[in-house]
Amino acid sequence: MKTIALVGAQWGDEGKGKIIDILSETADMVVRAQGGNNAGHTVVVGDETYKLHLIPSGILYKGTVCVIGNGTVVDPKVLLAEMDALKSRGVSPESLKIDARAHVILPYHLVIDELGEDARGKADIGTTKKGIGPCYMDKAERIGIRLVDLIDRKTFAEKLKRNTAIKNRIIEKIYGGKGVNYESVLAEYNAYAERLAPFVTDASVLVYEAVKSGKKVLFEGAQGALLDLDVGTYPYVTSSHPVAGGFCVGAGIGPTLIKEVLGVAKAYTTRVGKGPFPTELNDATGQRIREVGQEYGTTTGRPRRCGWLDAVILRFAVRVNGLTGIALNKLDTLSGIEKLKICTAYKKDGELVRDFPADISELERCEPVYTELDGFNGDISGAKSLADLPPAAQNYIKTIESQIDCPVLMIGVGPRRDQSFKVVR
Ligand code: IMP
Repeated sequence: MKTIALVGAQWGDEGKGKIIDILSETADMVVRAQGGNNAGHTVVVGDETYKLHLIPSGILYKGTVCVIGNGTVVDPKVLLAEMDALKSRGVSPESLKIDARAHVILPYHLVIDELGEDARGKADIGTTKKGIGPCYMDKAERIGIRLVDLIDRKTFAEKLKRNTAIKNRIIEKIYGGKGVNYESVLAEYNAYAERLAPFVTDASVLVYEAVKSGKKVLFEGAQGALLDLDVGTYPYVTSSHPVAGGFCVGAGIGPTLIKEVLGVAKAYTTRVGKGPFPTELNDATGQRIREVGQEYGTTTGRPRRCGWLDAVILRFAVRVNGLTGIALNKLDTLSGIEKLKICTAYKKDGELVRDFPADISELERCEPVYTELDGFNGDISGAKSLADLPPAAQNYIKTIESQIDCPVLMIGVGPRRDQSFKVVR
């Protein structure tokens, strides 16, 4: 394996955890570079199910170095709870490295996330309310508190005092909420700092050296291309950069160090939170996909909105990430549906649109144009190669490839690690 970046090709929740887990098995280092505990990866190893939010899935392999890069936002309370939960199940978090520059999510970020969403009323974003956006706001405003600040008692006390004063004014005077208590946050976070300090380092150096010395480095994306702050369905996006370019900024390395970019997509489309979704199915088929595919959020438990596969979105993901391949997950979920549809373009004001619109007001006016294919039946969860799939399922894959000009390199037919196979041609 060369250095490989793995990204979500849709609206997140594409089943990246499983693919990351498969690739982690042979990786020397796994790196997360954006987002925080708004992400949720479910990894099934044998009979054990692990739900990870912040720690890279590589942690499940002994000897794999796991990096939380500078572009992430870290909630120390959540991170420590995740480390403790792993420890209690016999998984050591010792190989974890956290970049000193990563920003810290503090209690006022959670309060502001909640109050901000309430204040937006019907125009809310549908955030995970984990304080992600408010933490990135502080980073952009240059008042954020970083891990390096957290582990320095004096600096932390000063910066926390300043920020608590500012944030409490916003919380109380603008939103009419209840501010946070400086002393209790200071004491609580000083305790977290003590426990996290041994893991804090300059991860950019570690990642660079690993790549340069020929180690197998896997960059693990969270969320998906459509949730990217810049190129996603703004404002219904997250506050970081889930596209491949995000790894460069968020891990402190240059683009030439990443050799391959694998986009993970589901064999259909889902999204959580608000915003337009052209192929959404508000009918029995959508409900069936939700139940069979168990489409409920790992982090929030929210039911996901479900719809047909959208090739316009995948073409967009190929473009904005420079994808070299697709890992297509959950093909098994579609088994038993008589006719399958793939959206090949949109119709907007009578015009055919092949490229994903830049603005959601345009997207809202788009109607999907479908190609209809025969469905397939039966249990495909034991398939180990393309040839093991029913001809209609093979045709479904071929149709996707012809639409997006990118090869499908892996296919998922069930939740377990051994229920994914590489496509050999
Ligand atoms: P935030 O990241 O909590 O600010 O939420 C912003 C938007 O991104 C919301 O629509 C969330 O539902 C969505 N989002 C954030 N993380 C994920 C994820 O891991 N999967 C899917 N959607 C996500």
